[in-house]
Amino acid sequence: MKKQYKRIFILTGAGISAESGLSTFRDSDGLWNNHKVEDVATLEAFEKNPAFVHKFYNELKPEILNAKPNPAHLCLAKLQEKYKGKVNIITQNVDILHEKASSKNIYHIHGKIDEAMCLECGHILQSAEDVDMSTICPHCATKGKFKPNIVFFGEMPLYMPEVEKHLRECDLFVSVGTSGVVYPAAGFVYTAKYYGADTIEFNLTTTSNNYLFDEHIEGKCSITLPEFVEQLLETQENNGE
Ligand code: APR
Repeated sequence: MKKQYKRIFILTGAGISAESGLSTFRDSDGLWNNHKVEDVATLEAFEKNPAFVHKFYNELKPEILNAKPNPAHLCLAKLQEKYKGKVNIITQNVDILHEKASSKNIYHIHGKIDEAMCLECGHILQSAEDVDMSTICPHCATKGKFKPNIVFFGEMPLYMPEVEKHLRECDLFVSVGTSGVVYPAAGFVYTAKYYGADTIEFNLTTTSNNYLFDEHIEGKCSITLPEFVEQLLETQENNGE
């Protein structure tokens, strides 16, 4: 990839945060923090037992919020700062490691661990503390109507209009640390490719939609991604941009 790109679309998954010590979803025989995803990340589970689902996320929150960004997060922030083209980060992760790395233009399409939504009025509460059935909405004063602002299976991901626009306009699509099995995110590469973008995948292993990528860079993304960012910046310098 020796080109100067105008718009780069970076899709990140749990693999970019693995080296910051956070669990991925499908590397440990399908359990996410020792729970089956369908027990803690579906609307049915939440409606059946909201207290249990709140407890799961409250227990997860401190570990996720205390994690530190690794070189993969940091190099993306550097790219956003130094690259002449626009770099958008679309993340499936609910952690805030891109924010901690000082990235901007971040779209959390599956929500964020430190947010909860009031089902009465739609208010988004940002809190590092526990949110549960006793939490009172500061906006409408209703008690016990918060849901973790995590996009559950069966719900529509967030920011899809913006994502569609960026997919149509990007000339480079980069996928980092995602197994590419959960839609619609797993299908983003199709759209980017359809509209003519170069496509590159960073993963520890080959993934199911690996064949869709022009390039596949295998290895730990804390090593492979910074190398790639340096190449992009070097190309930009050599082009006298
Ligand atoms: N460097 C690069 N890739 C890595 C690393 C690493 N250090 N560690 C793990 N990976 C890769 C794994 O090979 C795997 O392909 O990261 C990917 C993680 O895949 P998943 O656990 O399936 O996570 P993700 O793709 O983000 O899941 C997507 O599924 O459960 C839902 O909403 C949840 O956002 C999540 C979505």
